[in-house]
Amino acid sequence: MTDSQVTPKELQPQFLFITDLDHTFVGDADALRELQALLRQHRQAYGTKIVYATGRSPQLYRQLKAEQSLINPDALVTSVGTEIYYQDPSDVADREWSAILAPGWNREIVAATAAEFAELVPQPESEQRPFKLSYYISPELAAGILPKVESILQQQGLKVKLVYSGGKDLDFLPEKGNKGLAMQFLGQHWGISPERTVACGDSGNDIALFSVGSEKGIIVGNAKSELRQWYAQNRTPEIYLAQANYARGIVEGLKYFGFL
Ligand code: GLC
Ligand code: MG
Repeated sequence: MTDSQVTPKELQPQFLFITDLDHTFVGDADALRELQALLRQHRQAYGTKIVYATGRSPQLYRQLKAEQSLINPDALVTSVGTEIYYQDPSDVADREWSAILAPGWNREIVAATAAEFAELVPQPESEQRPFKLSYYISPELAAGILPKVESILQQQGLKVKLVYSGGKDLDFLPEKGNKGLAMQFLGQHWGISPERTVACGDSGNDIALFSVGSEKGIIVGNAKSELRQWYAQNRTPEIYLAQANYARGIVEGLKYFGFL
């Protein structure tokens, strides 16, 4: 075989598969079983990488993994993109990633600022992480409160992102703490191009997966309104809105893009 017969890039079967868990990968047990079998085969045959990108803490991730018999990922992104693990959550998150998140973040000031707003109800202690503070707030209250909190944080010189998901969860995150930049970090780590990367999601904290670059995206049919609204204003050929829900929607999208 000569060099000119080397497989062209578009025919290389390996890809980077990155998916949100709740209401995306997980939600339909039969479809999940089928998708996991397909992914496992693909990983074995071609070295495809499987990554979970969840809003959950490592603790709540472990619960879900056991409940749903999730296959082991090649990397795990927890806490809305702010922690990256290569082993099933070990004690230490990737330090290089933590160093990227630190500038402009001050956990104490963010917590003190949030505490001034009685409307923000703190989530359980397990979900308060080194680079993520999380609260509950209703959509009605969120519209009025969020801009105020944002401007107070800005005045204090912090670079903090507020991400609202599922009409209830509000996360305070470092400027670069999101699932999309974590995905790109892993793509570079493994040398997999954006064209061979596909991300799947259903809610607000997944928007970063679809907006960060030219990676492919699959929005499952059951997506939440904040993501649907975003999609209505940001349609691109790289993003596919599936008809089917949960894992069945993912399989639909993977076939649409020719990954499977
Ligand atoms: C998960 C996390 C929660 C977060 C939400 C949205 O449910 O446990 O802390 O607010 O995702 O990102
Ligand atoms: Mg979700």
